[in-house]
Amino acid sequence: MGFPSALGGHKQQGDLMSVFKDKHVVLAVTGGIAAYKSAELTRMFMTEEAMVRVVMTKSACQFITPLTFQSLTRAPVATDLWESEGSVEINHISLADWADVVVIAPATANIIGKMSNGIADDFLSTFLLAVRAPIVICPAMNVNMYNHPVVQENLVRLKSLNYHMVDPGYGALACGTEGQGRLAELEHIVEETRFVMSPQDLTGLTVMVTSGPTRERWDDIRYMSNISSGKMGVALAKNACQRGAEVILVTGPTVLPVPYKIQTIPVGSTVEMQEAVNEHFDRVDVLIGAAAPMDFRPAKRVKGKVKKTEVPAPIELASNPDILAGVGKKKGDKILVGFAAEAENMIKYARGKLEAKNLDFIVANQIGAPGTAFTTDTNQVSIITRAGEVEELPLLPKEEVAGLILDRVLSIVSERRG
Ligand code: C5P
Repeated sequence: MGFPSALGGHKQQGDLMSVFKDKHVVLAVTGGIAAYKSAELTRMFMTEEAMVRVVMTKSACQFITPLTFQSLTRAPVATDLWESEGSVEINHISLADWADVVVIAPATANIIGKMSNGIADDFLSTFLLAVRAPIVICPAMNVNMYNHPVVQENLVRLKSLNYHMVDPGYGALACGTEGQGRLAELEHIVEETRFVMSPQDLTGLTVMVTSGPTRERWDDIRYMSNISSGKMGVALAKNACQRGAEVILVTGPTVLPVPYKIQTIPVGSTVEMQEAVNEHFDRVDVLIGAAAPMDFRPAKRVKGKVKKTEVPAPIELASNPDILAGVGKKKGDKILVGFAAEAENMIKYARGKLEAKNLDFIVANQIGAPGTAFTTDTNQVSIITRAGEVEELPLLPKEEVAGLILDRVLSIVSERRG
C-alpha cells in the first residue's frame, strides 16, 4: 500500500536552476551528533533560494539550540507539539500543508522506528503523518544501531512506501567506532532533494555524456592536454540524472567531484574515451559529446623520463580517432549531440561537423568570447539543428545551458513518439 505524499513527489517545473526557488523546505532535525551539520544544510537550501522552516525533536535541542536555526531562517522553530499548538505559523497541520518537501537530517533510529510504525507522540512525528509532500530520510547513527535488523527492516518498509533515502556514509563515527552510519555528504542530501523536486521527464532514457579533456602521454610523467574543465559535461550529466535518466558519464581527468548517483567512467586518453563510449554505446538512447578529446597524441610513448640534459627532438604527432564521428556511423535511431568550439566562422564550421559526424544537433560556442566555452561557469551557445535552424541562447550558467540542451533532446524524443 502506497502513501500518497511520498508517492507523488515529482512536480513539473521550469528549468532546473529554479527547482528550489521559493519552494518550501521543512528540515527536520533529530537527536544525533550530526545535528550540528544541519545548520550548514539549512544555509545550503537557503542559498538555493528555498524558504526553510526547521522542526526539532527534544533530543535534537540537546545537541544544537533552536536559536541557531531561528537565526539562520529568521523564522520560528517548531520544537514541541503542545507549546506550538497555539501558533498558526508552526501548527503541525499548517506546516505540513506548507511543505513542498521534507528533509529529515539527521534521522535517528528512533524517528525511523516511529515513522515505520505510524507513531505520533511529538511535534515531528505528528507533523510527518500529516505531510503530503515527498519526504527525504537521511539516517545517521552508530554502525551497530544502523545494522540492527529492526532498523534495517524499518528502512526497507519506509522505502517500499516511497520515502526517499540518502544512505549514511562510511568512516569514523562520533561514538569512536568505524563503519556505515555517518550522515551522508550534505551535497548529496541537497542533490537527492533536487532530484525529488525535479520533473522526471527523462525517465526511461539512458544518456551517455563525454566530458572534460583527455591526456596524451609523452613519457611516464608528461602529457599533452587542453584547458577543458569538464563543467559543461558534468552539468549535462547532473541535469539528465535529476530528470530521471540513467546516466553514464565518461570523463577525462578533472578536479570536479564525482557526481552523486551517476555511473562515472574515468578515462585518460582519447583512445580510452573511445573504448569506454563504444563499450556502452549499444545500451544508450542519447549520446552527448561535451568532451574536448585531444585530436593528436605523441606518436611514440617514451618509457621513463626524457632527460632535460639535451633539448629533445620535436615530438612527432599521430591523429586520434574522432569518437563522435565513429558512433555517428552506427547511429541507428539514437540521438547524437555534439559541441563545436570555434575561434572563427562558428556557424559554418559547426554545420560542417553536424553533417560529418551525423548528429541530431550541435551546440556551438565562440572561443575567446568573455564568460563562455572552456573553464568558465557560464556559456553562450548557439544550437544548430539538422533542419538548419540556429537558436542563439544568451550567456547563461552551464547548468541552465544543460537544461535547455536536454529540453531539445526531449523534444526530439517526444516528436518521434508522436
Ligand atoms: O571536430 P571537433 O573536435 O571540433 O568536434 C567537436 C565535437 O566532436 C565535440 O562534441 C567533441 O566531444 C567531439 N569529438 C570527439 N572525438 C574527438 C574530437 C572531438 O568525439 N577526437
